[in-house]
Amino acid sequence: MDILLAGDFDRDELHSWQRALSLAVPEARWLDAAAAREAPGRVEAAVVANPAPGTLAGLPGLRLIQSLWAGVDRLLDDATLPAGVPVARMVDPAMGAAMAETALWATLSLHRGFFAYARRQQAGCWRTHAQRRAGQVRVGVLGLGGMGRTVAERLVAAGYPVTAWVRQPRAAGSPPPAGVTLQSGDAGLAALLPATDVLINLLPLTDATRGLLDARLFAALPPAASVVNLGRGAHVVDDELLAALDSGRLRHAVLDVFHTEPLPPGHRFWTHPRVTVLPHAAAFTDPDSAAAVVAGNLRALRDGQPLAHLVDRRRGY
Ligand code: GLV
Repeated sequence: MDILLAGDFDRDELHSWQRALSLAVPEARWLDAAAAREAPGRVEAAVVANPAPGTLAGLPGLRLIQSLWAGVDRLLDDATLPAGVPVARMVDPAMGAAMAETALWATLSLHRGFFAYARRQQAGCWRTHAQRRAGQVRVGVLGLGGMGRTVAERLVAAGYPVTAWVRQPRAAGSPPPAGVTLQSGDAGLAALLPATDVLINLLPLTDATRGLLDARLFAALPPAASVVNLGRGAHVVDDELLAALDSGRLRHAVLDVFHTEPLPPGHRFWTHPRVTVLPHAAAFTDPDSAAAVVAGNLRALRDGQPLAHLVDRRRGY
């Protein structure tokens, strides 16, 4: 089987993906975009991480596009993406675990005021604040996909009351993790927000979720709530977030993702005292565990078995 491997990897990333994928699928021939263009009819599958637009066009034998990224918003934005070819997203258990660590770190830091202590250290200021119990800090998780579930479970285990929100009501038979309250739809969001001290965004970016974290949403949170964005930058209306932080309406924002990445020099998020910036590092796909996921889907393709983690292109995730 000839497989195209394409993405915006740096050299080290490319090597570690080539190594992990060749070990997991030794029977495949891995081609880069230039090699694929020389024999376009032979490419049966593409394994991609934000490939340059146009990379997947003109491959008549293509039967699967497997993303190495969990979020496929950029991939689906490519107008030349071949229409009939199934797209699968990455659902990597190691990535979910990493995301849960980041969410736990952010929640603990907000709950115990560790970001405030870090600011006071800069100022040489020895001052304590009150200590609350985890059970007093209500966490809202937006999105309950693979990562949202892992995050919610870890937070419950750490003692936080957790409510998760999904846009579409779930079919009976897909209950939330034990101990997690589930809300859905507009009414569910309206119920969740006033009862949330730390709001964690893990939604996919779609037309329905773009700009969801706006002035109206911030105003519905209780005073001095905090926001953690681990989804996509375009979920947030930046000016409205800055206004809510400037006015003290929001206590703090932990941001891993941005409208423009890298976050441009001089952007107010870099220096805002109530903002913690991460360089889109909350959770990376882990080459070894993700390669096993890719191998499973490539073998299913070869054997005519059902493919896992397929994206509904109309829904956008
Ligand atoms: C990271 O943001 C991903 O979508 O995998």
